[in-house]
Amino acid sequence: MANRHEGWSPESWRDKIATQDVVYPDQEALAAVLREMASLPPLVTSWEVEALKSRLAAAARGDAFLLQGGDCAESFDECGPNEIAGKFKVLLQMSLVLVHATRKPVVRVGRIAGQYAKPRSANTESREGVTLPSYRGDLVNRSGFTREERTPDPALILKGYERAALTLNFLRALADGGFADLHHPEYWDLSFADHARNGSEYKQIVDSIRESVSFTEAVIGHDVSKLRRVDFYTSHEGLSLPYEQAQTRAVPRRDGWYNLSTHLPWIGKRTAALDGAHVEFFRGVRNPIGVKVGPGSSPEWVKELLDVLHPDDEPGRFVFIHRLGAKNIAKELPGLIEAVRKTGKTVLFCADPMHGNTETTADGIKTRRFDNILSELEQAFEIHQQMGSRLGGVHLELTGENVTECLGGARGLDEEGLRQAYRSRVDPRLNCEQALELAMLVARHVRSMNGRQS
Ligand code: PEP
Ligand code: CO
Repeated sequence: MANRHEGWSPESWRDKIATQDVVYPDQEALAAVLREMASLPPLVTSWEVEALKSRLAAAARGDAFLLQGGDCAESFDECGPNEIAGKFKVLLQMSLVLVHATRKPVVRVGRIAGQYAKPRSANTESREGVTLPSYRGDLVNRSGFTREERTPDPALILKGYERAALTLNFLRALADGGFADLHHPEYWDLSFADHARNGSEYKQIVDSIRESVSFTEAVIGHDVSKLRRVDFYTSHEGLSLPYEQAQTRAVPRRDGWYNLSTHLPWIGKRTAALDGAHVEFFRGVRNPIGVKVGPGSSPEWVKELLDVLHPDDEPGRFVFIHRLGAKNIAKELPGLIEAVRKTGKTVLFCADPMHGNTETTADGIKTRRFDNILSELEQAFEIHQQMGSRLGGVHLELTGENVTECLGGARGLDEEGLRQAYRSRVDPRLNCEQALELAMLVARHVRSMNGRQS
């Protein structure tokens, strides 16, 4: 069996090629920032990381379902209470809808408190004859189009750590009972249902959740929200290896190293090369780890990836996030499921129906169609079931606010409408209504699949 730690150290990634590498002109300033960050408290703890791993293990066995979602890229300016609470709220509401449909506990994981660095397809951006480095997220540089703003600044790494800490502090308070009334769907805003074809069905789902909650409260004799805190975990793409390394620690009374910048880091599609720095870094940490898998991935690559990152088949360790596109999934997914099956290992399959369905309108606006997102998800459930496999989670880009970035949904947002409140600096997100509607439609699909099976 391969030894996960052989030849590994928190720095061994530095000898490998880091795709999407950021060159900091001021290396001394970078080193000083990383030293400072390494001396500060961790953002999460090893026991939380282990708790999430066992919940993901349950999801991989079919005893739970993973709901992972949040911004494509968080920004330092939008670290306000409304933005954070909005995301938490929509994820909690979606999770109740999914619990109701799947009859399984839902593991909630935000793309939050550290989702600040972005991979880019081009290293530079040109405007009117001027070429500057691309914007790579608030952790790296600034989005304004001047040389000064686009130069990677190590101070932003520290600011990102601090913003993540502020976000997490508020999330922990919210999870500790600040959102008690959300268990009661009578407080949800369902006005979008009046515009939807399936509106009456949505209202039935909510009525049924309400009845279950009141039944439970009647049986236990008090309010469900007082029962216990809501579990909520964090995740982000582990793109900036200096940032990840500075929060990676050995902890007392546990073996190995933990990346304590987040509970569930994932490796993006563009940085998942087997001989690359990201795979090297993450093979050595004990966290559960996600990998994004796109179209055209070969069975050999899947096998080697699992050899390196999932050598011991540890339950809950590996989240296989496929992001194939509504058009490609029927062709691509069966081979990937088969490739994993051949290894004899267990992974948690999670569908990201966002990143294979990005398109640009004639006016140059980056968007996604609600119907394509839903279609990829429905196909993912079906294909896994047909192959005797199991889809154990979904990964979404969403926000709790009323943005207009994805086309379609109950209100039938059209291209003209995109301009009203398009705020994302990177990928288009589902707004709160579209996200809740998607959960309702997924719930409906899962129930009809279960109905067919029984
Ligand atoms: C993302 O999750 O925002 C992203 C860039 O995804 P992928 O690595 O799948 O392209
Ligand atoms: Co994205």
